[in-house]
Amino acid sequence: MKRDSFSGRFGIIAAAAGSAIGLGNIWRFPYLCGQNGGAAFVLVYLFCIILIGLPIMLAEFSIGRRAQSNAYRAFRILSPGRPWYLIGVLGIVAAFAILSFYSAVGGWTIEYIFRSISGGISSNPTEQFESFTTDSYLPLLHQFLFLALSLGIVMIGVKKGIERSSKILMPLLLVLLIVLCIRAVTLPGASEGLKFLLKPDFSKLTGDSILLAMGQAFFSLSLGMGCLITYGSYVRRNEDLTSAAGMIAGADTLIALLAGVAIFPAAAAFHIEPDSGPGLVFITLPGMFRQMAGGMIFSTFFFILLCIAALTSAISLLEVVVSFCVEEMHLRRGRATALVAVCVFLPGALCSLSLGIVPGLQLFGKSFFDLMDFTSSNLLLPVGGFFISIYAGWILKKHITVRELTSYGAKKFSCLRVFFFLIRYLVPAAILVVFISGLIRN
Ligand code: PFF
Repeated sequence: MKRDSFSGRFGIIAAAAGSAIGLGNIWRFPYLCGQNGGAAFVLVYLFCIILIGLPIMLAEFSIGRRAQSNAYRAFRILSPGRPWYLIGVLGIVAAFAILSFYSAVGGWTIEYIFRSISGGISSNPTEQFESFTTDSYLPLLHQFLFLALSLGIVMIGVKKGIERSSKILMPLLLVLLIVLCIRAVTLPGASEGLKFLLKPDFSKLTGDSILLAMGQAFFSLSLGMGCLITYGSYVRRNEDLTSAAGMIAGADTLIALLAGVAIFPAAAAFHIEPDSGPGLVFITLPGMFRQMAGGMIFSTFFFILLCIAALTSAISLLEVVVSFCVEEMHLRRGRATALVAVCVFLPGALCSLSLGIVPGLQLFGKSFFDLMDFTSSNLLLPVGGFFISIYAGWILKKHITVRELTSYGAKKFSCLRVFFFLIRYLVPAAILVVFISGLIRN
């Protein structure tokens, strides 16, 4: 079967950035940052992006392009008869776990689009958010809508659906975020929020927050589950993987930081605690929109773009599972996509309901929603990342990786040595240390 491929370098950057940039940047990063001391968390996060995230991204791209296949098959092709393909299986489990809560939050963005259009943002956004997420059927309905939209896009296919939407809309999101940042920092009392984001207080940094920062780096860059292996397989031989990876990680980090600059000053101005949890962006920004001239228009645009950013990420998650079903189980694309979406809706519904009418839906002291969120990012993705780094550093022949990173000798990659040091030693050691210290603490 002829594989689809991205058209040119901008294609891969746009699509992978579309996968990376999503709710992770604008919803998850600010709320984790708020709960873990602000600036100190940001610093650890940045270290994780550069020292752990970037090398793993390069490793995933190289493996994918070399093998020209989905993550599961890639390891079967490159290391036949060995159990490395289990990384692909782990990725599929992680994709389901992430999609289940991701689609719930994606649904919230849809609700906020409707609310913005109808002028229904209340003067008490905290109460409004809580009453919506604990409603008996509204969150489910919107989650369903979100999944149906993602499904539609994946059915159209790689090139048309994913590429076209990401190319135009992600730059637009950036522009809108910059406008929101300007508004937020000019609010009275905003400086407290900026200080929170920029002035590190290391006493607030615990071992757990380091684990959370690392998990967030994996989550935000879409690493550790083979998503970028699949995307790498769509990249042509002559495209430069290294500069693409740099730009994707740079754009992703920029969007997350901008989200912080928009949210924390607004939170400070409206006396909303930065550690208010998963509702943070849905509480602070609507508060700010209400006070802005033309706030309704900004609010509508913002939630539409956030929803689209979430969709481009959700379709990359679906793509991991769908390409497996198509290429390994020989299902038709349309059928595979529908099947996967139905299978996601079940745990997804549990996530939504665990916040509201079924609060008893708890495991290990966490709601089902939190459990999926926590285990996927802080356990499944780093474990996947650990094995990917071992594979790329120690198992895959070095000259193969070098060839991919230099685009078959056509491009120079001056950081090859640094890359091999990181992927062989630092990345696996760092993941292990963070894990083991977590185990000891608990
Ligand atoms: N990176 C996405 C975000 O930040 O919203 C979430 C995600 C997409 C995680 C794809 C993992 C993945 F494979």
